[in-house]
Amino acid sequence: RRPRPFCLLVFGASGDLANRKLYPAFFSLYREGAIDDWFLVGFGRRPWTDSDYRKEVEKALGGYHLTDDDHRDFLERCFYIQGDIDDLAAYQRLAESIHTDRDLVSYLAVPPEQYQPIIDNLYRSGLSRRHSCASRVVVEKPFGRSGHEAAELNDFITERYDESSVFRIDHYLGKETVQNIAVFRFGNGIFEPIWNNHYIHHVEITVAETVGVEKRAAYYEQSGALRDMVQNHLLQLLALVAMEPPTSFTSDMVRDEKVKVLRALRPLLDLDIFANTLRGQYKAGLIDGQQVPAYREEPGVDPNSQTETYAALVAHIDSWRWYGVPFILRTGKRLSRRVSEIAVHFKKPAMNLFPQAFGGANQLVFRIQPDEGLTLYLNTKIPGLTDHSRTVSMDFLYGTGFGHPSPEAYERLLLDALIGDSTLYTRRDEVEASWAFIDPIRAAWDSGSVPLHLYEAGSSGPVAAQGLAERIGDHWRRL
Ligand code: BG6
Repeated sequence: RRPRPFCLLVFGASGDLANRKLYPAFFSLYREGAIDDWFLVGFGRRPWTDSDYRKEVEKALGGYHLTDDDHRDFLERCFYIQGDIDDLAAYQRLAESIHTDRDLVSYLAVPPEQYQPIIDNLYRSGLSRRHSCASRVVVEKPFGRSGHEAAELNDFITERYDESSVFRIDHYLGKETVQNIAVFRFGNGIFEPIWNNHYIHHVEITVAETVGVEKRAAYYEQSGALRDMVQNHLLQLLALVAMEPPTSFTSDMVRDEKVKVLRALRPLLDLDIFANTLRGQYKAGLIDGQQVPAYREEPGVDPNSQTETYAALVAHIDSWRWYGVPFILRTGKRLSRRVSEIAVHFKKPAMNLFPQAFGGANQLVFRIQPDEGLTLYLNTKIPGLTDHSRTVSMDFLYGTGFGHPSPEAYERLLLDALIGDSTLYTRRDEVEASWAFIDPIRAAWDSGSVPLHLYEAGSSGPVAAQGLAERIGDHWRRL
């Protein structure tokens, strides 16, 4: 798996995403020898020379120990083009300078309102479709703010690029533990036979964060947790847990199966939304012993903001395999703990032979982060003269199992885009199907018909969220 000779063109070259994620990930690929014949071009408005740009990139790699040779070699392959995103001439200059034998990967690390002008100019300068080699575009989230917007954006892009060249990022798909969901399910023979409504009671997906809105109020106020997290990351996790085995592990086969799940999500309408969804917003509170402000007191946030920082819902997949199995989803900021996990809750044994048993039903937990791993909860007899039992856990920890840290999500995703493998990127129909599920919820929430529950920062979220889990006869796992 090696890319052909390529040029990586980064829009938003001085931005936060490029500095925090892209340059470090790209350098890691370089250092591991995963890429060899390449150059990196930053495109930006700032009046920088190549040498200024190299200094910026070097700063972004601060965490890496560079040898002199690495250093020089890496930085000498970085170039800068100054231009406004609307300035067609700058793209034309670029087109002249990129050798026609080299694949081009354009990475849009920019706010969404810049996607269309950039893509249009790439197209108009002949950079989006090239005769002798590939041209791909990587689009960050958010991908539209509704199904309608996403479809419009998709139309716009696919009039200028082939769908197979469009790489829509969902960085959760690049996480090692998320990639492992498919390997776990389809690489082991023992779980798939019980992966259905005969054996599974419900599936619980949690993405909890301790961070607040950070410096992203302008974006987040327009987005909220439902658009920011559920439409993309949580629904992607759901699709991976629920999809049928693909006939081969290729990008279209995998995505064909994921999209079937997303399309089979039972639409939540009217009263269902009231009963099966819940939204919340954090108040002031304590995180790691430090006082933190309420969402409404964060810089840039409207003091009367109704934006949710917590979202939970009960979803159903109307398919033969999953009919009757609730999928409960929750995500929030400023919660007590940072944890992303998927817990598959199995049904209890048909009959309880051990009335003294204290254990619950079996659970299999995919621990996405932190403490990446897998845990299987089983009931076991407590050694001694009684029949008491309790739940014990069988744990697999990536850290100790493999002894080396997993690559960052962006590293894997970037390499895949450079190679042209879109398995871990979302396809147009997936994005539109997940919006179709989210749009009615968003509309109901925006109309104010579903109350906004306040919760204390550092807590496990709105108390009322317990009611959602109780409706399906259980409770959320402790945060
Ligand atoms: C991003 C969201 O997509 O994911 C952020 O926009 C969120 O609001 C982040 O903090 C969480 O990602 P991770 O990898 O830290 O779980």
